[in-house]
Amino acid sequence: MMNAPSKPTLFSGIQPSGLLTIGGYIGALRNWVRLQHEYDCLFCIVDLHAITVRQDPPRFTERCLSFAAQYIALGIDPEAATIFLQSHVPAHAELTWLLNCHAYMGELARMTQFKDKTRGAKEQAIGVGLFDYPVLMAADILLYQTKLVPVGADQKQHLELTRDLAVRMNHAYGPLFTVPEAFIPEVGARVMSLQEPTRKMSKSDENANNSIALIETPDVIRRKIRRAVTDATLGITYAPDTRPGVANLLTILGALTDRAPAALAASYADQGNAALKNDVADALIAFLEPFQARYHALMDDREALHAILRRGAERARHRAAPTLRRVYDAMGFWRGEQREET
Ligand code: TYM
Repeated sequence: MMNAPSKPTLFSGIQPSGLLTIGGYIGALRNWVRLQHEYDCLFCIVDLHAITVRQDPPRFTERCLSFAAQYIALGIDPEAATIFLQSHVPAHAELTWLLNCHAYMGELARMTQFKDKTRGAKEQAIGVGLFDYPVLMAADILLYQTKLVPVGADQKQHLELTRDLAVRMNHAYGPLFTVPEAFIPEVGARVMSLQEPTRKMSKSDENANNSIALIETPDVIRRKIRRAVTDATLGITYAPDTRPGVANLLTILGALTDRAPAALAASYADQGNAALKNDVADALIAFLEPFQARYHALMDDREALHAILRRGAERARHRAAPTLRRVYDAMGFWRGEQREET
């Protein structure tokens, strides 16, 4: 593909629609950190996606900055990777329109996330943005000739749609896009809610006891883990279907200590839920305390944070331009003198 960098491209993003949780960390961000030196990486704060739900403007601004600081505090190197806000690169919105005209109502209506988020709602009350959300996600990915997209299991279907759109466009206009692959981890692809462990842990959950935010205090973390729903069976076993609460705690501990949940379960065979919960809380606090110190230092130096995001946006705009131009050209848009400028 044009201007191919020497390493393959990796792209991923998170919506700044609530507090970043350990679900997003374990399912996605942890792998961004691990893969960042093998790939040429772009890590986006997908602010345009976040407005499918109404946001309070001042809090939204602050949350976008806070997400950037959290990416860095978790170990993303802003010198090596491109960290940026989606709205700073207009090509995302432009490519979305071009892809919209090749996407079908039927395939978008089949998206389980759309169905889940709109269940029971009247059609008059369902935002078009929510429906079109996966096309914007496809544009994010395809703009950069992305090879790998590390995400949690809930994004698998959106990745399949992205691949379908890439193949469809390549078939219609010749090779425009790299067809990307999802990277979904073996452990932690779906961290569950603490109170309702058959549902996914989500940053937009109304019940704060269901999730643990990365910027939560140790006391709150300990309390939430202690109250996590488990079951009355004696001993610890890893059985996600029949013991989802215990399995979820084992998954969280396994992800933080790099051990397989089933193997961990065996080491707790003679112990109860209380011992497991205690160790999960300890592991979370040991991981989050130094992270939080780095996070607060980054948030206290706004100039430096703004500079990282400005530089990231510049790099991303530069990286996105050739692909967008190629799509316009392939579709026959007359672009006059602009052709030379971009
Ligand atoms: P979002 O913001 O809901 O979640 C961000 C990432 O975290 C993962 N994740 C989880 N993984 C495991 N267990 C959980 N409980 C959990 N909760 C969240 C998600 O799978 C995701 O990888 N549509 C995306 C954002 C997006 C994007 C993109 C991602 C927009 N454009 C381009 C990749 C590439 C979303 O809503 O993720």
